[in-house]
Amino acid sequence: MQKSVIGIDVGTSAVKCVVSADGRIIDTASAPLNVQSPAPGWSEQNPDDWIGAVKSAVARLTAPLDPVAGLALSGQMHGAVMLDTAAKPVRPCILWNDSRANDDCTTLRSDVPKIGQIAGVLPLPGFTAPKLMWVRREEPHAFEAIRHLLLPKDYVGLWLTGEFATDVSDAAGTLWLDEATRAWSDTLIGASGIDRSWLPGLHHGFDQIGSLRRTVAEAMGLPAGLPVFAGGGDAATGAVSLGAAAAGRGFISLGTSGQFLVVDDSYRPNPDQYVHAFCHTLPGLWYRMAAMLNGARPLSWFASVLGISVETLLTEAAHADVTRVPLFLPYLTGERSPHGDPDVRAAFYDLDDATGRPEMCRAVVEAIAFMMRDAADSFGSDAMGGQIIPVIGGGSQSDLVLQTLANVLEQPVARSASGQGGAALGAALLAEVGVGLKDPASLSFAPDLTQAFMPSPDKLLRERRMRFRSLYAALRGGL
Ligand code: XUL
Repeated sequence: MQKSVIGIDVGTSAVKCVVSADGRIIDTASAPLNVQSPAPGWSEQNPDDWIGAVKSAVARLTAPLDPVAGLALSGQMHGAVMLDTAAKPVRPCILWNDSRANDDCTTLRSDVPKIGQIAGVLPLPGFTAPKLMWVRREEPHAFEAIRHLLLPKDYVGLWLTGEFATDVSDAAGTLWLDEATRAWSDTLIGASGIDRSWLPGLHHGFDQIGSLRRTVAEAMGLPAGLPVFAGGGDAATGAVSLGAAAAGRGFISLGTSGQFLVVDDSYRPNPDQYVHAFCHTLPGLWYRMAAMLNGARPLSWFASVLGISVETLLTEAAHADVTRVPLFLPYLTGERSPHGDPDVRAAFYDLDDATGRPEMCRAVVEAIAFMMRDAADSFGSDAMGGQIIPVIGGGSQSDLVLQTLANVLEQPVARSASGQGGAALGAALLAEVGVGLKDPASLSFAPDLTQAFMPSPDKLLRERRMRFRSLYAALRGGL
């Protein structure tokens, strides 16, 4: 019987497990997670909730776990897990979508003017380093108790194996990694006032970090001693799940948030546009990622404002008078790439007394495409030029969204079915390599494309795209 492996993704809204064999999904299960927001802009989780959710999700798997050969992790990136000398959390984890540490980003940027070149991106409050600066200032008792720092999936890894370990792709999102050399940076560690000894060892995704502890194995119904592999941050494992494991491969993701990710075989930072140039979890590879907080979310937001379903919104948008579509800025929760602007907010502009609901719905669809074009342009001239770009996530289910995207990007795009296992499948593929069932080179593959959308020239759309950019420039900084 073909040996299977397990990939576990410690997400924000759920832990998801995938059991796979030879890259095929045999079984999946998940368990939900809650996010706490004790103050406006705060976003926290209790690290032990992840462990509870991992246990529940594994217990919900129905495939036999007997011939399972290994396990690897994936996780939400950038979270600050702060542990004391007994490896217990000193406070809840501060998550990737927390915005309290804005002032600390300004401090980091002026203290280390080259931070964007070293860390692959300019400081944003979601990243780990500014959060530690905030804790040092606002919660000195908690800060003094810290002896270990981990990322969310690595806290689960510690529970599984007893080892303090991370992988370079997750380390990449801390602002403490020197992305070019793939080592912790003393300059960045010093600037944020933490102790280097608190940071875990660095690995690649298919490196073994340890073995499943007996007590944990019993609790999970898995073999004691099962090899556990480092895995990666969810951007990198998501890329692996789509075969984006060689230079030039990439994809667009249109979930709640949005991503445009392209893999490179050299380090190519472009911090001024808030492109994230991060280590991939595979040796010798990096990726550039435009990370948007607002992906397809504006569709569900506007649908709920109107009291209609997203399907109805899309049907109305398809019937809009395309000569009268207003502009919509989609920045409901601020934006990361390409503006690095946590304070910007969404807006409709150019409404007149003939503007109807269909035109407003169409403006929301177009805004998603304009935002992705901004992302593509922020990479320079080589954002997968000439290739069909795979698109995954909820937003990719709409023909209108994909056709608009192709027209605005002036490049073909295609719906891809390969994204279904997501980051957990990417982790499972890394486990397959780790246990020797697969060659690392096999991780690079062309994803399944179910339907392609060719660009067609659209003068009105091009004009609106130019005005979309001007609108952000005009509203930046608020009124
Ligand atoms: C990546 C990022 C998200 C989080 C949450 O930079 O912020 O992918 O990892 O999923």
